[in-house]
Amino acid sequence: MSEVLGIDFGGTGIKGALVNTETGELTAERFRIPTPEHATPEAIADVVVQIADHFKWKGPIGCTVPARVEHGIVRTATNIHALWIDTHVEALLSEKTGCEVHVLNDADAAGVASVVFGSGQEETGLVFFLTVGTGIGSAIFYNKVLIPGTELGHLRLKGAAAELYASDRTRLQQGLSWKKWAKRFQKYLDRIEFLFAPDHIIIGGGISRPTKVAEYEKHLSTKAKLSFASLENEAGIIGAAYYAANQKK
Ligand code: BGC
Repeated sequence: MSEVLGIDFGGTGIKGALVNTETGELTAERFRIPTPEHATPEAIADVVVQIADHFKWKGPIGCTVPARVEHGIVRTATNIHALWIDTHVEALLSEKTGCEVHVLNDADAAGVASVVFGSGQEETGLVFFLTVGTGIGSAIFYNKVLIPGTELGHLRLKGAAAELYASDRTRLQQGLSWKKWAKRFQKYLDRIEFLFAPDHIIIGGGISRPTKVAEYEKHLSTKAKLSFASLENEAGIIGAAYYAANQKK
């Protein structure tokens, strides 16, 4: 069995678990540490070290960051501390943990988990994975190959970044009904379909929980096949671990 420690850096919590990267199953219970208030690279690196220590881990680590990551370097920071910009996160985390660390965008990781182990497993062609939570993240796959680093939450919609108009955070902050939020999200999906004509759109993130989907699914309509991610909370961890396992030198 090939085992990797997967770590998902989220807005409220940093979660880690050991993952069997052949099956996508967690091999040990998930461990979560609340995201520090000042989530600087150093502060997050300390948390990653605590998670690795918790599992007494010395092997490869896959870790997500909720920003664009280009060849191990963070390039944007819309929802994270500005100090992240231009941080070589792979070098930082590898040095702090003493492990081989591979880092990718959070939406890319959750998307990978979905097309390899989750509800996108059977899908080929052009698949868009959209994760909706604090922001909107995107992962694009063509015949299951990831086109990394897309940032489709930042498409302009109503004069601003789409994620400011149609994320789950905006729904909560503005007290939108499910119907009103779905109307906004539909506009976003229309824009995605107009620009890219995907074959299949998978919605992930907090918004893909079945109880939530039941509230808004009826208000959405797409030409693409529309489905909802099944791995929820664990998708980032599993995708990060799988990614690291397949980057190993
Ligand atoms: C970031 C993306 C991230 C998404 C979801 C956006 O604000 O720019 O990189 O994937 O939020 O966390």
